[in-house]
Amino acid sequence: MALEWALARVEARIDLDALRGNVKALVSRAGEADLMVVVKANAYGHGLVPVARAARAAGAPWLATALPEEALALRAAGVDGRILTWLWTPGGPFAEAIRADLDVSISGQWDLAEVVAAARKTGRTARIHLKIDSGLGRNGCPIREWPDLVDAAVKAQADESVNVVGLWSHLAMAESPWHASVAEQVKAFTDALRLAEQAGVRPEVRHMANSAATALLPDTRFDLVRTGLSTYGLPSAPNVAEGLRPVMTLASRFSSVKRVPAGQGVSYGLKYRTAHETTLGLVPVGYADGIPLHASNRGPVWAAGKRRTVAGRVAMDQFIIDLHGDQAQAGDEVLIFGPGDQGEPTAEDWARAADTIPYEIVTRIGASVPRVYLGER
Ligand SMILES: Cc1ncc(COP(=O)(O)O)c(C=O)c1O
Repeated sequence: MALEWALARVEARIDLDALRGNVKALVSRAGEADLMVVVKANAYGHGLVPVARAARAAGAPWLATALPEEALALRAAGVDGRILTWLWTPGGPFAEAIRADLDVSISGQWDLAEVVAAARKTGRTARIHLKIDSGLGRNGCPIREWPDLVDAAVKAQADESVNVVGLWSHLAMAESPWHASVAEQVKAFTDALRLAEQAGVRPEVRHMANSAATALLPDTRFDLVRTGLSTYGLPSAPNVAEGLRPVMTLASRFSSVKRVPAGQGVSYGLKYRTAHETTLGLVPVGYADGIPLHASNRGPVWAAGKRRTVAGRVAMDQFIIDLHGDQAQAGDEVLIFGPGDQGEPTAEDWARAADTIPYEIVTRIGASVPRVYLGER
């Protein structure tokens, strides 16, 4: 598909100046802690390499991806400096990661054994971060297995196959700082730190905070904070004034505008019927591009100078807007979401309309949607 044809249909505008502004604001919010910008999932849909470069240029000393292949892609694109990667499966590219000088997260005995074997094979020392599951119940070493993992890592350190440079964990409910689980997780993490330090681990960085914790829970910042959502200017918790700017604008154009009579059924299932003679605008973007089906009859857009609502079901590659008789023509711009400057909805508005979270709205915008970078690259 020629890029200009795709651009005629839809584009995700990525405002790199806004991203750099957000990174600078977060560097200062992190205070004494360093900033790690989380660029997993194609930088939350914003584009892995351009975002990583912009984040570095704005002063982020650390980057992180969940998947090792994304961290390796950053290195292949010439992005240097510290990059942590944490979501491993047996047989994963440990040797490649060590050769690429990545920081590798370790959550248990099998991955420690694989990283040690890979380090011996490459003749290098792997920099590892031991991850404790302090209560999220996801990736990370269970508390009762932590002493053995620390012990094994300290032994592996003795022959210089690994160097434990980080100790870390992840919160389940940072956006609700009063929730009992937060204090419990912080306690479990500090206990785990103490145990590791008593066993001789001297970490360069201890880290726990995501975006919401960075904003709301100063005690969780330790030496490093890992921000994803805030970097992209999306709110990390309800009613937190973060002073950040949304980075992505999703724009399309009407592919057709037509007059229809009262009672016209619209889209699959005929879940919408026109109340009067009206004008329907067809937006050539659908769930295959990442527009949530759940936003059928609910998703907000900005078109022909007003906020409008998706009429009927979102289809695979199109949805419809009832313009209620207002003037528009094929080719006119439709803003699906953006920073809200012109009155257009935000990704948060879409999340509300689709009963989901802003993370899902931006990360779902698919490869079929070209990213157009605004601001210096
Ligand atoms: C381990 C880890 N750290 C940090 C983040 C960043 O979280 P947020 O986007 O809420 O800042 C994530 C994202 O889910 C994560 O999985």
